[in-house]
Amino acid sequence: MIGGTTHSEIDFESQIDRAQTGSLKWDKYKGKDIIPFWVADMDLPSPQPVLDALHRRVDHRVFGYTLAPESATEAVTEYLANTHSFEVDPEWIVWTPGLVPALALACRAYGVKGDAVMTLTPVYYPFLTVPGFADQELQSVPLVEDSVNRTWEIDFDEMERKVTNRTRLLIISNPHNPVGKVFSREEVEKLGQFAVKHDLILCSDEIHCDLILNDKAHICAGTLSQEIVDRTIIMMSPSKTYNLAGLACAYLVIPNAKVRHQFQKVVRGIITEVNCMGYTACEAAYRHGEPWRVELIKHLNENLQLIYETVNDKWAGAKIYPMDATYLAWIDMRHLGLKNPASKFEKFGIGLSEGSQFGGEGFVRLNFGCPGSVMDEGLNRMSKALAEF
Ligand SMILES: Cc1ncc(COP(=O)(O)O)c(C=O)c1O
Repeated sequence: MIGGTTHSEIDFESQIDRAQTGSLKWDKYKGKDIIPFWVADMDLPSPQPVLDALHRRVDHRVFGYTLAPESATEAVTEYLANTHSFEVDPEWIVWTPGLVPALALACRAYGVKGDAVMTLTPVYYPFLTVPGFADQELQSVPLVEDSVNRTWEIDFDEMERKVTNRTRLLIISNPHNPVGKVFSREEVEKLGQFAVKHDLILCSDEIHCDLILNDKAHICAGTLSQEIVDRTIIMMSPSKTYNLAGLACAYLVIPNAKVRHQFQKVVRGIITEVNCMGYTACEAAYRHGEPWRVELIKHLNENLQLIYETVNDKWAGAKIYPMDATYLAWIDMRHLGLKNPASKFEKFGIGLSEGSQFGGEGFVRLNFGCPGSVMDEGLNRMSKALAEF
């Protein structure tokens, strides 16, 4: 339906058939009875105002090379100021057609062959691979499990032990994919101070920052002290929250001119501009998507509640800690003693992400951005699988 939207029109329960759309998530299991709960896009429709804006853009009929529209940049700066208390000069914004290429380019912008990149594991797997693509060393610092408080902590001592004079970049997922943690101001500040102390660039990937499921506050690295901000690049995109991954629209905020120019220098001639549909969707999502986002968070919490009840109460030995953010549940299946538990679940019709891919052997990651009925079916299938293992 094109036109205005009301809350009651937001529909997160209908199942939308994604066959024949080239869906990475669904085509992985084409022709098989496997429900995909892996890659991070949702089986939910984007907000109606975004769909309306895209329709209007299509109706214009011409799709030439597109500069970032001033109105899109303005939507971004207003959103960052109003939602994350981050006052941004439009000049600081560098648009990119996705954050994964930006992560890879950041390694090349701030380091050379033989340098090192530090990150906290388990983590979104491109963080683990991009340093190697640039012939750089990966320095993984595992998050420490706090089984009493049922959370994950940053091991600052281990960071100090691992850092070398070749370390150039510290990449963090803030909030954290896959453990679903929102870092406190104290933690983000300490990470920033670590970057200052060791003369690193702090790369704060904040793609999940509008998917906070409880009352914790996201701490944008751009709101830290000037000495930290001057060495920080903040990576953002509306794509996770508003389900726009296929439109390839993301942006970096790099406040310091020298640091920004270093990045822009390596980007030149390598990656394309964002496409016109991406800008249109981004602007509409930030300007008009909030009522939809509020409903989305409620829906995700319903699915998450079901996951907590099933995993912690019904599956002996499995566990999940309370999550603050993302629609990606990090489920501990280490009790099964299986090397690749996700591959075993596939045989029972469930397509999960393998924890080892993120540096978390024995875990599975379950994407719960789906209708409740699909969540039910997926958890039932997992229960049956566990009974057979
Ligand atoms: C932390 C993080 N960064 C980046 C991405 C992907 O970003 P993009 O689709 O813009 O390349 C994801 C996708 O799940 C992610 O979880």
